[in-house]
Amino acid sequence: MSSQIKKPIGVFDSGYGGLTVLKEIVKQLPEYDYIYLGDNARAPYGTRSFETVYEYTLECVQQLFSLGCELVILACNTASAKALRNIQQKDLPTIAPNKRVLGVIRPTTEVVGKYSKTGHVGVLGTTGTVTSNSYPIEIEKLYPHLTVHQEACPMWVPLVENNEMETEGADYFIQKNLVSLLSKDKKIDTIILGCTHYPLLINQIRKHVPSEITLLSQGEIVANSLVDYLKRHPEMEEQCSKGGEIKFYTTDSTVNFDKAATLFFGKEVKSEHLGI
Ligand code: DGL
Repeated sequence: MSSQIKKPIGVFDSGYGGLTVLKEIVKQLPEYDYIYLGDNARAPYGTRSFETVYEYTLECVQQLFSLGCELVILACNTASAKALRNIQQKDLPTIAPNKRVLGVIRPTTEVVGKYSKTGHVGVLGTTGTVTSNSYPIEIEKLYPHLTVHQEACPMWVPLVENNEMETEGADYFIQKNLVSLLSKDKKIDTIILGCTHYPLLINQIRKHVPSEITLLSQGEIVANSLVDYLKRHPEMEEQCSKGGEIKFYTTDSTVNFDKAATLFFGKEVKSEHLGI
């Protein structure tokens, strides 16, 4: 491959949440080039219909393909739950048979059984992720002995997108959903933060969850899984360019994105606008 041709790894989310995944991926795999795309103009996805999430996600994946990505990670549970299967099975074979799109639900369910001692697991997610039942279905396949309870938290993503994380209002909704989840089953000892925005609320979440309960954030899990994927797929690994460059795109205002993303990513972010 010519060293001039950039083939970055694409990381997509409806907004800022995927930055929590990108951050961990870059920590483990700093040598690759990356493009992050946040569809902030149309976030949140969590309460949108299956058809809409699929349409928006496919558009964003195609944008990442046209920016040179051969491999795209949907760093969004809602998109992974509602669009990934269709994109993998229906779209890729016709639009880009050699490109790959991966999600975040499968890597998370692969490890959850290693964390729970009681066999009782909670899942927090958007309404879309929860109603899709993707977590219980995938967990059942791998760890049929686990009992899974879910709680939809429709207000949490808007709180993050609007930088309202440390307000009394945020605390009200966070407590409400956690009390509801934990009251479903006293034996829950592991909670999956099944939305990539939720690690940005981790301190507020922790206030309402006893310390003996493990909170599973997906960043590191997805990064480990990508390391493993690239080892198992040398044909893809060889294609990904290695220049250590990260580019950020947002479908909304770059000024707002840069301000919030810098905070979430922990480093200065200078984004470009992408019209969709
Ligand atoms: N970060 C996305 C997820 O993991 C948030 C979805 C939304 O935009 O509501 O589900």
